[in-house]
Amino acid sequence: MSTLFEEVRPSDGGAGDAVPVRRVELTVNGERRAADVEPRLLLAHLLRNGFRLTGTHTGCDTTNCGACTVLYDGVPVKSCTMFAVQADGHEVLTVEGLATASELHPIQEGFKDEHGLQCGFCTPGMMLAAKALLEEKPNPSEDEIRWALSGNLCRCTGYQNIVKAVMWAAEKLGANVESDGADDAGDDAGGEG
Ligand code: FES
Ligand code: FES
Repeated sequence: MSTLFEEVRPSDGGAGDAVPVRRVELTVNGERRAADVEPRLLLAHLLRNGFRLTGTHTGCDTTNCGACTVLYDGVPVKSCTMFAVQADGHEVLTVEGLATASELHPIQEGFKDEHGLQCGFCTPGMMLAAKALLEEKPNPSEDEIRWALSGNLCRCTGYQNIVKAVMWAAEKLGANVESDGADDAGDDAGGEG
């Protein structure tokens, strides 16, 4: 268990100087995690400093840039704008949860293939916003992609390749669904034979 209290404010052992902490328990990238945190601690800081998931970036701390975007129960949120205690009992997905041990997520492949990143600072947030979009709309238009990513700023790419990356991922995910469906149909046919 992480104890963020000590990271935020090292104990000096003095009596009467205690800052109240609260236990939070949440699921991060499919794993149950717990930490004792000050109620003022931001979710972004719990992820980065407490759980060492440094793929969640902080660019502005003012809800402006979107670099800190994570999925909170499947919905993109700016984790610099939430307190860690608000995540108690909820599910959080960070960019570290996208790939498996052996394979990139199709969204990550899309960013790679379409050169959707340069410095990479905005990329984790872009990918998670894109994931939420593709779960809701598997075949988004270019306008819908631009709208879904409008809360995420990129200083490098000019956005064009980011949009292409999301379209690439939509196509790949669609193809995966189709091939899974074909496999299932084949299995069914085989079962009846
Ligand atoms: S760091 Fe959260 S929006 Fe910029
Ligand atoms: S790739 Fe550098 S900020 Fe987007």
